[in-house]
Amino acid sequence: MARPFRRYSAGARWYDLLSGERWVYRAGRVAGIGLMDLQAGDVVLDLGCGTGLNFPLVRAAVGETGHIVGVDRSAEMLAVAQGRVRRAGWPNVTLIEADAAELDVEEVRARVAGVTGRTDGVDAVLSTYALSVMRGSAREAWVRAVEVVRPEGALAVVDMQPPTGRWRIFSPLARLACAFGGADIQARPWHLVARDAATGSVREAVVRGGHIVAAVGRLPGEDDAPAACS
Ligand SMILES: C[S@@+](CC[C@H](N)C(=O)[O-])C[C@H]1O[C@@H](n2cnc3c(N)ncnc32)[C@H](O)[C@@H]1O
Repeated sequence: MARPFRRYSAGARWYDLLSGERWVYRAGRVAGIGLMDLQAGDVVLDLGCGTGLNFPLVRAAVGETGHIVGVDRSAEMLAVAQGRVRRAGWPNVTLIEADAAELDVEEVRARVAGVTGRTDGVDAVLSTYALSVMRGSAREAWVRAVEVVRPEGALAVVDMQPPTGRWRIFSPLARLACAFGGADIQARPWHLVARDAATGSVREAVVRGGHIVAAVGRLPGEDDAPAACS
């Protein structure tokens, strides 16, 4: 089976069409981005942004004074994202080609400062359906991304698990879709939000028969006690 990186590079042109976006996965990004409580002018880091399917929803929330920073290691996926940005005429999107697990935090901070004037980092990090694909390097990628977020900024993960309850009959289909995309359906990477967010700040939404979980929390403020590690 192709490694996820090669799979996404080779299939970038078809991703939007074949990824089940309309019927299944859009619901997760709508739920997750809705929970983020984004404000006009916010700067949002989209980790493993792929073809930029989150961009219209994020852009609608942050407006023309906001900024999106998309990180992905596939040049081909980013090329599709760039086309989306160009067609929509959004000037405030920065795309960075990088392996998220090797993300240079200082470089990203410098890029953000260069395009937004913000030196305190981004207001939010969002990762949809990407950490489960990063597998063993997901934790490192997440840790680096969170370092770019300002205190009290939002942390959001939307990802997959086997359907639950009566929807379990669709488990074989969900497993097939995840295998096709190189995702580990058992990874449940939203636990990273709970690990890093301030106590009591995490909210979850579960959609599409339990197959998709969105978790959103807020980093502690500078004066708060650090969260317990797990
Ligand atoms: C299933 S796609 C999700 C794309 C997008 N977030 C979405 O919601 O449609 C997974 C994406 O993660 C990217 N990816 C996988 N491993 C990565 C890594 N180590 N660093 C950066 N991007 C990575 C892939 O190139 C691909 O674009």
